Amino acid sequence: MAIPRDFINELIARTDIVDLIDRKVPLKKAGKNHTACCPFHSEKSPSFTVSRDKQFYHCFGCGAHGNAIDFVMEYDRLEFVDAIEELAGQLGLEVPREKGTGKRVDHGLSRDLYELMDEANRYFQTQLRQHSDKQKVVDYLAFRDLSDEVVEKFGIGFAPDGWDGLLSRYRQNQDAQDKLLTAGMLIANDNGKRYDRFRDRLMFPIRDRRGRVVGFGGRVLGDGTPKYLNSPETPIFHKGNELYGLYELKQQHRDPQHVLIVEGYMDVVALAQFGVDYAVASLGTSTTAEQFQLLVRSAKEVVCCYDGDNAGREAAWRALETALPLLKPGDTVKFMFLPQGEDPDTMVRQIGKQAFEQLIEQAMGLPEFLFDTLTRTHGTDKGALAKQAIALIQKIQDSVLQNLLLENLAHKLGMNSADDLKKKLGFVEQKAKPLNAKGLQGRGTPLRLAIALLVQAPQLGYGLPKQPALSKIQLTGIDLFNSLLDITRDKQLNSAQLLELYREHQQHSMLIKLAQWDHQVADENQVSEFKQSLLWLSDKYIEQRYQELSLKQPLSKEEKVQLLKLITIMKGKNK
Ligand code: UTP
Ligand code: MN
Repeated sequence: MAIPRDFINELIARTDIVDLIDRKVPLKKAGKNHTACCPFHSEKSPSFTVSRDKQFYHCFGCGAHGNAIDFVMEYDRLEFVDAIEELAGQLGLEVPREKGTGKRVDHGLSRDLYELMDEANRYFQTQLRQHSDKQKVVDYLAFRDLSDEVVEKFGIGFAPDGWDGLLSRYRQNQDAQDKLLTAGMLIANDNGKRYDRFRDRLMFPIRDRRGRVVGFGGRVLGDGTPKYLNSPETPIFHKGNELYGLYELKQQHRDPQHVLIVEGYMDVVALAQFGVDYAVASLGTSTTAEQFQLLVRSAKEVVCCYDGDNAGREAAWRALETALPLLKPGDTVKFMFLPQGEDPDTMVRQIGKQAFEQLIEQAMGLPEFLFDTLTRTHGTDKGALAKQAIALIQKIQDSVLQNLLLENLAHKLGMNSADDLKKKLGFVEQKAKPLNAKGLQGRGTPLRLAIALLVQAPQLGYGLPKQPALSKIQLTGIDLFNSLLDITRDKQLNSAQLLELYREHQQHSMLIKLAQWDHQVADENQVSEFKQSLLWLSDKYIEQRYQELSLKQPLSKEEKVQLLKLITIMKGKNK
């Protein structure tokens, strides 16, 4: 369900980043740029700048940067596709989708599904207040000691008993019925007869990050089975990608310090009622990589909370295995275990917010939980422990965490240092990432300057003739430069549009650095500086080709002619 490049390009062209940001973070004009105190870190004097020319923002304090899409992603905490939807919505545009790659989502359909889910949600909430059976729900809520505020906040509702409470509202509307079936709100039996999926249950609406209801969990009002009935996977609901309570959390805290992952709907709601309003629940399964990714992006510290029994420890271990490979420097994941027989709901009611938060503070760090569990599993068999530990440690990207765990392991095995351990076990270091700016040696190489000039002023490349020699040079970064030239040659783009084309590219972050690099070339000198860089590059080619040919034996006729030419050119230059 790819969004066409052209559309994204148009979106950036039509959105003015200064207006966009000014609506949320009032900007002041300062010379060519606009500035404000940075919305992404706390500061007293403004280091956040927005450039209308480049359609780009950058904070000199915390390094936050990007185009309009990045701003919406960061500020509103949206995923890429949602940010696109948001910007398109502001311009009154529909987001078109390309057919072909991946699953195709019919957007007309999904829009209707969201609407129907919203109607169902309102219906359940109304039933909680108006249905003739409402007393038993009210009693159940009282029995669970849920406050009106928290019922309201989480939009908890009631699906009445009977086969067609929801269905009967759409008797005349076959199309809506079909869609409710797709949305998992109706079930069709073998005879094709349709009926409500959720009957006589307390309803917990599950919202996506934009607050749209995408599914429900329904609890029996008592002891029936299944205790919870959940929406099935649908075109708009993918369990593994959503977290119950995340939307509500974000409403409360734009930048939460920590997030607590718990197991149940009731846990999230009860914790919120007692003021621990930063818990989310994975939806009846173990926490997926997607969910972790969401959480580590949302908060500095993610605390996984489980029951103290074996099942709880096993679930925690699965979570650790899922989280390890995706942790980045600065991400913190911790683990806490409740006493047997308790869950966060019962616990917070017993001990209250303060004591519960103390438990959170005492949560085990990831290294402690990892070695604690390995020791429990392997006892005194240090060989087996080391083997499993190494297998896990190998998967870590974050080299600080990786080294910390290696030091820990070395200590456990009675070795002097992580280096000893690495040697002994033939540990393979994590490969250095290819995407840093050091690839283009030195601050001021002509190629680096050429790329920076081009990224900051893409019109420099517009209409430039093709330079076949450039594609033959061997130089770090030249491929990137060539691809930038290819793009800017035919299209008039601003910096933000150009960078957008590289979002998924491995050198995206380097390009962004260069887009902000102060190259100190005055506006009026840019064209000539850029040409100078091109000349430097073509000299580079001549040099390389000369060396290549002068070492080659034998030379073809054409090569001899070329070599002579090159010699003449080089003599001319050296005069
Ligand atoms: P629990 O059985 O721990 O329920 O299941 P709970 O959240 O403590 O609920 P209460 O306090 O008894 O009301 C934890 C989670 O596992 C999923 C649900 O997401 C639930 O919140 N689950 C459990 C189901 O999906 N179906 C079930 O039948 C049971
Ligand atoms: Mn419970």
